[in-house]
Amino acid sequence: MKLYNLKDHNEQVSFAQAVKQGLGSQQGLFFPLELPEFELTDIDAMLEMDFVSRSSKILSAYIGDEIAAHQLAERVKNAFAFPAPVSQVSDDVACLELFHGPTLAFKDFGGRFMAQMLSYVSGADEQITILTATSGDTGAAVAHAFYGMENVRVVILYPQGKISPLQEKLFCTLGGNIETIAIDGDFDACQALVKQAFDDEELKKAIGLNSANSINISRLLAQICYYFEAVAQLPQEKRNQLVVSVPSGNFGDLTAGLLAKSLGLPIKRFIAATNANDTVPRFLADGQWQPNATVATLSNAMDVSQPNNWPRVEELFRRKTWRLTDLAYGAVSDETTKATMRELAELGYLSEPHAAIAYRLLRDQLQEGEFGLFLGTAHPAKFKESVEEILGQPLPLPEALAARADLPLLSHAMKADFAALRAFLLK
Ligand SMILES: Cc1ncc(COP(=O)(O)O)c(C=O)c1O
Repeated sequence: MKLYNLKDHNEQVSFAQAVKQGLGSQQGLFFPLELPEFELTDIDAMLEMDFVSRSSKILSAYIGDEIAAHQLAERVKNAFAFPAPVSQVSDDVACLELFHGPTLAFKDFGGRFMAQMLSYVSGADEQITILTATSGDTGAAVAHAFYGMENVRVVILYPQGKISPLQEKLFCTLGGNIETIAIDGDFDACQALVKQAFDDEELKKAIGLNSANSINISRLLAQICYYFEAVAQLPQEKRNQLVVSVPSGNFGDLTAGLLAKSLGLPIKRFIAATNANDTVPRFLADGQWQPNATVATLSNAMDVSQPNNWPRVEELFRRKTWRLTDLAYGAVSDETTKATMRELAELGYLSEPHAAIAYRLLRDQLQEGEFGLFLGTAHPAKFKESVEEILGQPLPLPEALAARADLPLLSHAMKADFAALRAFLLK
């Protein structure tokens, strides 16, 4: 697989390089040089396959001969070890639930596949240190994705006392190759420490420093697979009238959905659904790219006003000669999000703010004869406090969280001091 840098089309790298490097020069995103397409008959046959076999075929179409098919299939099996069920909400709408992995969010798919790919392309005797800062969720996904992997040490920094106790339990109780550090400072201080580490060439070399960055191409490729899995679960008559609504922040999930369509998956229309951070909906309405200051909302994982995957969306539309005017969109306020969560609860479906935004726009824009699917990107229990308050009912903890709630925290404590972090990393 060859990829090019969107900021410098002359910079071309292999899949292995793109996975290791994350970004190209000038912080440019990598994008596939070839956009494979399946025949309709291939798609029909693939929709009959099981999740892991089908996903291996999809990923192989992109990655090509850089990874032998049986090796890739083995890695996909390790990564996708949990289901992505479609749950019916009403006659014409269903939710693709992406929160049945170890950290109860869609990030488990991309994070776990990236971990598998990084260890594959890094060579058996190469020592890797993954250093990442988290404000809560990414840390958990990264920790669980790399847990128990040989030659990989994971160090996660988080702001002490500023993540929820349950979030902390989810990734600071693992031990083994996962080391967590509670920094005496805020999230920005954690990020600044990570940045300093990446600027330190000597350190980088000594410990094989790498980031599990969310714009890594391997994450996006993994996310394509669950769009196919959703369609595979639908009856034939609904497959050709499918509208998919994607709760969007950095627009990685939507990019993956569009790449699934580009492979030939029959999706009639996508809806780009945002909260009040509506740079993209405004851009699609009037053609002006004018990010406002980011505002805090209930759907905090989508509080992004400069979505970093958007250049990939534009590139795909350009390459496929699709029209951006065919991309549906909308932005939903917190008040409407709350009302929508209650509306869904009345239908017997428990949701959280991100999924509710996608549902709202889908419900409002779905036309006669169409079938709608919205992405459930996180388990409602991950937003326990707000969900309980909005719905006025207690929310039981799923097993993955309940099992960790009583385990002791294994975190180290540290001042926001780079010299201390450096010494820790070199020990
Ligand atoms: C729960 C949840 N929903 C939706 C999103 C948005 O996904 P994307 O950033 O790929 O647009 C995120 C991103 O972190 C998320 O955590």
